[in-house]
Amino acid sequence: MIDIAFVKPALPRHGALVLPIGEGAEALGGLAQAVDAASGGAVQRALTAANFKGRKGQSCTIWAPALADGAAGPARIVAIGLGKEVTAEAAEAAGGALYGVIQAEREAVVSAEALPPPVAAALGMGLLLRSYRFDRYRTTEKEEDKPKLERLSIATDAASAAKAAWAPLRAVADGVFLTRDLVTEPPNILNPPEMAERCRALESLGLTVEIMGPKELKKLGMGAILGVAQGSAQEPRMVVMQWNGASKGKKGTAQRPVAFIGKGVTFDTGGISIKPAAGMEDMKWDMAGAGAVIGLMAALAGRKAKVDAVGLVGLVENMPSGSAQRPGDVVTTASGQTVEVINTDAEGRLVLADVLHYCQTRFAPRFMIDLATLTGAIIIALGHEHAGLFSNDDELAGRIMAAGKAVGEACWRMPLGEAYDKQIKSEIADMKNVGGRPGGSISAAQFIQRFVDTKAGPMPWAHLDIAGTAWSGKDLATSPKGATAFGLRLLDRLVAEHYEG
Ligand code: BES
Ligand code: MN
Ligand code: ZN
Repeated sequence: MIDIAFVKPALPRHGALVLPIGEGAEALGGLAQAVDAASGGAVQRALTAANFKGRKGQSCTIWAPALADGAAGPARIVAIGLGKEVTAEAAEAAGGALYGVIQAEREAVVSAEALPPPVAAALGMGLLLRSYRFDRYRTTEKEEDKPKLERLSIATDAASAAKAAWAPLRAVADGVFLTRDLVTEPPNILNPPEMAERCRALESLGLTVEIMGPKELKKLGMGAILGVAQGSAQEPRMVVMQWNGASKGKKGTAQRPVAFIGKGVTFDTGGISIKPAAGMEDMKWDMAGAGAVIGLMAALAGRKAKVDAVGLVGLVENMPSGSAQRPGDVVTTASGQTVEVINTDAEGRLVLADVLHYCQTRFAPRFMIDLATLTGAIIIALGHEHAGLFSNDDELAGRIMAAGKAVGEACWRMPLGEAYDKQIKSEIADMKNVGGRPGGSISAAQFIQRFVDTKAGPMPWAHLDIAGTAWSGKDLATSPKGATAFGLRLLDRLVAEHYEG
């Protein structure tokens, strides 16, 4: 992981010097001004020649300018545009784009004297997030083909304020990297027991971690998750992670926690309703909802968030075999409701049904938010630009929409309603697990909602269908191609804005 440091401004004598510049900025300041003077105006001349205006996405590289004192200077100077409004979001995107331009240098210094500390920190965050790489299984890559950047020094006169802004971001970046690692791991390595062990490792951050196996799940009556698991040679797991950042050490102050629930299908073949071969390898990331919940819990603990939070994940592998569940099977869920399993490929909702019920009865949380790569239909509806948001609570939905917008994890609200709920009526059980192709993501959400109990009082609940956003086929501003960790930063922001203190 790239080391991000905050330092006193000083002209670097090697590596890269980065000059973040807002659109319409009058004159160069700080290190930019110093290097311009030392190079006899070479920087300003180059920026003018390149028609660099500080527009968003604009960049200009000046190679190894000669310095008047004859001393060595930076190998390259990179001006990057921040656009008209110099916000944290703009700096984050600029930081992400910057990574590709300077990754061949071992060290870089950012001239951030003119940036407010949170904006300077956001620039580091964008760069760090974009630098993610999963290297575990590369053994023959040549040294010269690997990215070199080891250290980004952010030069500022307000180093202590910038460091304070950076500390929580760093914890969130650690969480994002953990999620991306989990989501990228191949399915032969990251099976349910292994994924549970990776959760256990988070005890070192101060989280309480409980792992339940088939025996405990049976005792809890979790026929839905067990039905999905029964075709696999791998045992299922349910993991409960708790972070008591609000009530820790304060007697009698236990508050109702906020709750996050993740679908963790470590591989989804479809089961007996088997998927076509083409692209099936993508189903290794059918645990991205659980991956985001795990990374989120790590982030909350890592930044010592003042909140009581629980994270629950249902971990299973969906396989076809002689012991697999059949289309037509009826299973009894932990809530007592029965489900006719019409299609064994609609397995995620079965997993969530049992985990949501358990979460609500054990913790009586302030709200429940589940994340799941639940339906291909959400990709048809929203593409890869928005996650589908379903909720029984307008306030919670509004907060999620706003938090998503702020961190670049956009959501789009989808409807719920009785007419959709009718689609999952069964002839022989309380419901069936598929509602046909029309509104496929909505009937899936209706299914999940049946396991949110509002009989005794309101239970704010939201479901994020992240099938279209958990994995990207192309590089994004702060996420290289591959696992995005979608949902983690959104939920971290949601907690920070509304549920801490
Ligand atoms: N994991 C899939 C959904 C999915 C599809 C995630 C593409 C990411 C990319 C889910 O378990 C599934 O198979 N859903 C079925 C539901 C159908 C059988 C009602 C689907 O979307 O086809
Ligand atoms: Mn499936
Ligand atoms: Zn699935």
